[in-house]
Parts: sequence; C-alpha cells; structure tokens
Amino acid sequence: MEIVLAESLGFCMGVKRAVDMAYRALEKADGREVVTLGPLIHNAQEIERLTSDGIRTADEASIPADGTVVIRAHGVPPQAYEALKARGLKIMDGTCPYVHYSQRKALELYEQGYTVVIAGDRNHPEILGILGHINNDAQIVKSVEEAEALPAFDRVGVIAQTTISPKKYQAIIAALNEKAREVKVCETICDATEENQKAIRELSGEVDLLFVIGGRHSANSNKLVEVAREKCPRARLIETAEEIAAEELRGAKRVGVSAGASTPDWMIQRVVERLREVGDALERQFKRPDRSETL
Ligand code: F3S
Repeated sequence: MEIVLAESLGFCMGVKRAVDMAYRALEKADGREVVTLGPLIHNAQEIERLTSDGIRTADEASIPADGTVVIRAHGVPPQAYEALKARGLKIMDGTCPYVHYSQRKALELYEQGYTVVIAGDRNHPEILGILGHINNDAQIVKSVEEAEALPAFDRVGVIAQTTISPKKYQAIIAALNEKAREVKVCETICDATEENQKAIRELSGEVDLLFVIGGRHSANSNKLVEVAREKCPRARLIETAEEIAAEELRGAKRVGVSAGASTPDWMIQRVVERLREVGDALERQFKRPDRSETL
C-alpha cells in the first residue's frame, strides 16, 4: 500500500511561525513563565502539547506579572500590545506577516480619508486587531447582503479578512462598486487555505482512499473533505491516527493524506505511521500461506 501526502497540507506559515516562536521564547525564558495571549491554534491536541511543555494559554486576566507573552498569528489591537509593554512583560510578536500587511493597508486607507470596509467576521480576533489600528472606524460586512445594505459613500477602501473566500470577496467588491464613487481594493487574502485545497483536489483523483486530519469543527478541514469527495468518495475526516480501522484499508493500493491548517506535523506523522503499520499487517496477512490446505 502506497501512502501519498498532499503537496501542501497542515499548518500554514503564520501558525507554524507563531508556534516556533513560542518554543524559542521557552528556551530563553530562564525560569520565567511563557504564555500565549489566547489559544495559539484551534487544535486541542497541540494546545495540550504546548501546555505540557510549559506554554500556557492565558487571557487578559490571567497573564502573569512577569514573563513572556506570545502574540498569536491573528494579531492584536495596538492598544493591547502597548498595555502588555507597560506592564513590563516581554513580548514575542507572532502576528502573521500577512495580517501585519492587512493592518498597514487598513491604516493607509484610513489616513487617506477612505471609508474603510472590511470583508470578514466582526468577532474574529484578526478583525478586532485591525480595527484597533483605525480607531474602530470601519464598516464590517460578512456577506454580499450586508454590503448591499450599506449606505452610499464617496470613497471606499476595502480589505478582506485573510481567510475569506476570494469568490465572496469579489462579490462584496461588486456590491460596493454600486455604492461608492471610488472603490480602492486591497488584496489581503492569504492563499494558504487555497493551496491546501488545490493540493487535495489534485491528490484526490489519484488515490483509492483519503484521510483528512483535522478537528471535527474545523471549517477548513471539513472544506478539504468536501473538495476531496468530488473525485474520491471515500475521503473522510479523522481527528487522530487511532480512528483508522484496518478494515477500511483492505484492498486500497494508494492512500492519500491531507490535513487542515491547524494540524501539526507530529499528528500527520502519527497518521502516516499508523497507515504503515496497518498496511504492513494487511500485507503479511495476505501473504500468509493457507494452512487449512496443508493440514
Ligand atoms: Fe496562516 Fe497567516 Fe494565512 S496565519 S492562514 S498564513 S494569514
């Protein structure tokens, strides 16, 4: 049985960078506490690993008096950053470079006098961070309908939450074009999610069975399964390697593996190891001589 990994899978660059940063902070902590402001990643097993290694998830109320705070990839409002600094805490800024770019673009638009419109989810930490850079002065729309319901404007500057679908962003821009004399569009969508989808689309046509590793509630992992099933009806979501049953691998010649953006490499590795074990066991079973004939 051949195991084939999708060409792009698992952690995006921004999350990987933030996790690596947290471990670097731990190495230099010199006995002081290292915490992340909010969960570094939406993956229970990875949070468990971070916690057991000594990197605790904290909120504003439980930040230690002394130690290092790691800012997660979504970023924070500048006011939150300054407040941590004022408390004398050491800060490691894990804000994803793509999110930094969105923050800068929003500020540019704001300073140039555009009405800023953000296409995204108003409660998402990334959006809250961007809003903090522009005095919370922006319109936030998460659908075409919400864009259509906005009043008319003179000059609109629009940016997108990094993970919004390009199709939805285009539709929102089209709606805004009907609303304003000038619409300035900033390309702030990150292609990490798209890359994983593109890779699984290619892989799904070449395998008999496909496992996507990710949380049950992870939107991007479920989306990967949906894309994979277009060509591989036996694609399914698993949270851990233990969910793979020998029975379902029987007869499979090529098995594909992909993973959602919150799945760490070590979990992917465990799945590959489990597939190897089960695949080898099945092969041995298949090769075993039929003793009933020789008795
Ligand atoms: Fe990840 Fe940064 Fe994109 S956190 S999804 S690489 S915006």
